[in-house]
Amino acid sequence: MRQIKIFDTTLRDGEQSPHCSMNLAEKLTLAKQLEMLGVDVIEAGFAIASPDDFKSVEAIAQAMEKSVVASLARCTKGDIDTAWAAVKSAKHPRIHIFLATSDIHMQYKLKISREQALAKIAAMVAHAKSLCPDVEFSAEDASRSDRDFLVACLGTAIKAGATVINIPDTVGYAAPDEMYALVSYVKEHTPGIESVDISVHCHNDLGMAVANSLAAIRAGATQVECTVNGIGERAGNAALEEIVMALATRGEHYGATTGIQAKQIYRTSKMLANIIGIPIPHNKPIVGANAFAHESGIHQHGVLANPLTYEIMVPTDIGIPVNNMVLGKHSGKHALREILEAMGYEICDHGMDEIFDHFKQLADKKKEITNQDLEALMLSRHHRVAEQKYELIGHIVSAGNDMTNTACIKIRDGEIMHEEVAMGDGPIDAAFKAINRIVDLPVRLESFSLNAVTNGEDAMGEAVVQVSANNRRYIGTGMSTDIIEASLKAYLNGINKLIAE
Ligand code: KIV
Ligand code: ZN
Repeated sequence: MRQIKIFDTTLRDGEQSPHCSMNLAEKLTLAKQLEMLGVDVIEAGFAIASPDDFKSVEAIAQAMEKSVVASLARCTKGDIDTAWAAVKSAKHPRIHIFLATSDIHMQYKLKISREQALAKIAAMVAHAKSLCPDVEFSAEDASRSDRDFLVACLGTAIKAGATVINIPDTVGYAAPDEMYALVSYVKEHTPGIESVDISVHCHNDLGMAVANSLAAIRAGATQVECTVNGIGERAGNAALEEIVMALATRGEHYGATTGIQAKQIYRTSKMLANIIGIPIPHNKPIVGANAFAHESGIHQHGVLANPLTYEIMVPTDIGIPVNNMVLGKHSGKHALREILEAMGYEICDHGMDEIFDHFKQLADKKKEITNQDLEALMLSRHHRVAEQKYELIGHIVSAGNDMTNTACIKIRDGEIMHEEVAMGDGPIDAAFKAINRIVDLPVRLESFSLNAVTNGEDAMGEAVVQVSANNRRYIGTGMSTDIIEASLKAYLNGINKLIAE
């Protein structure tokens, strides 16, 4: 079986899409999880885009042990030098250069001729190669480029030292049989292709990104570019979890596998959804809440008789925790640590003290703590990555249908304790208004959602809010068995992020 390399671009193509931006701490947390997941390459960002982008690429480069860390660069010396400055401290650095090769992009966007494009590729790939041994060249809009010109561009990049050539379907236009034919053509006609990796990068505008990536693998691609939960420009990129599980489940058909630790998929997907505050659709393949739910009687009967009737994968394959009671109110720190370690978490002593405090708070409210509760508790840890100026101390909220909704909120700001009362259209509105009086900032609530993240009557609820101020949006998340408390924590978390920035 061929092992396909997984190039994850969640932190670049994913992060640059609307409402998916992350701060430095969030990017680092996610990058570490991507390494646990076993991705071969992490595209950490576009270093020249802004000083913040540069800092995050650099920080990720310094923190990764195994994965290659790439920064994107346009085909210019300035971009390439900045990309190199950001990734050069990585154990395995890569510079990823792109230039559009379709006539429409060259004529209207770049305003260059084919000859000029070829000259740029030769000069800039050679320049990148003089800095970094691992250079990837992407022919942007490859699927709409003239095939022989595309081959000439890729051949030029290989001659100048590229180690990976990438064939993007930038606008999600290709069909799977076309992608198969394109990769086959490039493989057959590009000089030097046998000594480099052939990559594809498919967008999902027509819902075919995963199918196109799999077709490319069948044609001989050795690397696929994808994102967790399929986030990315417009309709997104090919979803990592779908490609990985297609190969894991249908390995015999594709003759290929990956080095991904599939049991980390659930955790990674949830972590990203929590960070960006974009919930995973229930019917999303692999990671959606309904992906493994057999609702109809006929299906349930079949699965009970023989799981293979309707199940091609099982939840534990991707690391969905089994909902067993594992701990209770009287459990100690040692028992908690053992279970978390068995779940694959590595925790330092200081981190353990903090987790144990949160565990105790939860155990006061819930009699039985399950693996799912622990997973949710661990995932909620990065809610606290932002500098926490304000901390929720207490709340009293009264709600009714034919009376005024009121809230009294108590918040700590360092040494100072604030208390405010407000009325509103509903209990949450009243409570958020009381918080607004305390923080005294021009904050607007853009969106609010609430979901149960564990099962049962005392399930934990997770609230996600989007707040905005000065044309910037911040995601806040909060978790509790009490949905009002979860909402208040989420609102304050968003405000704390805003203040930290
Ligand atoms: O979609 C695209 O073509 C890209 C390139 C920069 C690889 O994201
Ligand atoms: Zn892209």
